[in-house]
Amino acid sequence: MGRQQLLSAAVALFALVGELLALAGGLFAFAFALDLDGAGALSPILVATGATAAVVLSLILVRSGAGAGALLSLSGLAPFAIFLIPYNNTGEKEPKKMAEYLVTGGTSFIASHVVKALLDLGHSVRTTVRDSSGTLFSHKDSEAWSNSFDLLVLKWPSPFPCGSFLSFRKDEEKVSFLWELKGAKERLKIHEADLTVEGSFNEAVFGVDGVFHIASRVSVCLNDNDLETLMESDVSGTRNLMNSCEKSRNTVKRIVLTSSSTSVRYRFDATKVSPLNESHWSDLDYCKRFKIWYGYVKTLWEKEAWKIADEKKLNLVVVIPSFCIGPILSPKPTSSPLVLLSIVKGVRGEYPNFRGGFVHIDDVVAAQILAMEEPKASGRIICSSSSVAHWSEIIAMLRAKYPIYPYETKCGSEEGRDMPHSLDTRKIRDLGFASFKSLAEMFDDCIKCFQDKSLL
Ligand SMILES: NC(=O)c1ccc[n+]([C@@H]2O[C@H](COP(=O)([O-])OP(=O)(O)OC[C@H]3O[C@@H](n4cnc5c(N)ncnc54)[C@H](OP(=O)(O)O)[C@@H]3O)[C@@H](O)[C@H]2O)c1
Repeated sequence: MGRQQLLSAAVALFALVGELLALAGGLFAFAFALDLDGAGALSPILVATGATAAVVLSLILVRSGAGAGALLSLSGLAPFAIFLIPYNNTGEKEPKKMAEYLVTGGTSFIASHVVKALLDLGHSVRTTVRDSSGTLFSHKDSEAWSNSFDLLVLKWPSPFPCGSFLSFRKDEEKVSFLWELKGAKERLKIHEADLTVEGSFNEAVFGVDGVFHIASRVSVCLNDNDLETLMESDVSGTRNLMNSCEKSRNTVKRIVLTSSSTSVRYRFDATKVSPLNESHWSDLDYCKRFKIWYGYVKTLWEKEAWKIADEKKLNLVVVIPSFCIGPILSPKPTSSPLVLLSIVKGVRGEYPNFRGGFVHIDDVVAAQILAMEEPKASGRIICSSSSVAHWSEIIAMLRAKYPIYPYETKCGSEEGRDMPHSLDTRKIRDLGFASFKSLAEMFDDCIKCFQDKSLL
């Protein structure tokens, strides 16, 4: 065989290999465009290799005078064009898949809205509830099993990586509103987890892209001053959760934790140093002096979360909402809406001697999602409308609009919670947060919701 023939044979062989590579790359690219699992990681390498091979071979073939071969080889670039489909004009890759997030404490006022917003955006959502009947799997599964077993609770090891498979009935009412959310039947999973139980969140956290930690033993309408219990479940509970996140650190890109402006605003110098920003922390001595245990626990708890994140090198972002108000999704109000309901109905005996920031639930949800999805988000982020008001002012505003309700008329005598102050929201606005809803909007939305649910 002459030198020229050998060269032609080698070129033909290379052309064949190039074509095959380009074709394989194209097939993977096609699977990638269709969002098939696993294709995404392989296709860029295969397509790039295939396309490069096709181009190089074409050049060789043109140089050796084999124009038809060059055309054939260039045709190997066709699959490469398919690969370009998932890219937009700016060259940026569009999301391959919607994320899967865990939201802890799904039945709570704030978390239920976060679950709803994430489902509305098209994400898959796992959420946790405390329920002694056990882990709740997807609605489809639980529905199928509960039809057959009704009140029975079944548990056995799951063939799936994310845990046990169980039917449920117990506490169904508490979670049933979550199943009614749009997209819930297809993309929501509910797990059992308790902050006081070590390892309880492992299963729910396993494989998710991010965690919204909202569940908390310490709720806003706190009347329990048992500091030890609160500290135990909230601080060690957060450690438990973050241990689970550490185990799934390959997938969990960020943890967004919901703190509270009570970890910022309770200081002897609050008025003087206002507007208070993310660098300010509540003073534990101030909290102790005025028995503000909610602020005390929230401050210690948030500091502990930062310490753990630092130790474990976890990506933590903390959202710091003020008193949050707006419509509720659950059948019955909890936390801050419950405080409002009791004040409007006049069943507490007095209204709190409290002056603070207020924020609409929609803004808290938007802030949480921004904190999770905005790459530039970091550290603490205050989330509050510009209005800082005393309950007496809120009641006056509501009485003028809704005079039919009795309202509390007497102010409480507790001290230390009515300090004039303001909150600096420049950080969240610099991250692209448009604007906060007004006091009137948040209270109107809440009152209307109470009326619709016949709570008022
Ligand atoms: N609402 C506000 O105005 C406001 C403002 C600023 C910050 N925050 C903070 O936001 C978070 C949520 O507040 P929220 O008002 O939505 O609370 P919420 O409605 O009172 O709900 C509290 C949630 O925590 C869960 N939980 C309690 N103990 C638990 C435990 N040991 N293990 C697992 N879960 C447990 C409850 O689960 P179960 O359903 O199983 O009981 C419930 O889902 C809290 O950290 C709160 O401090 C709230």
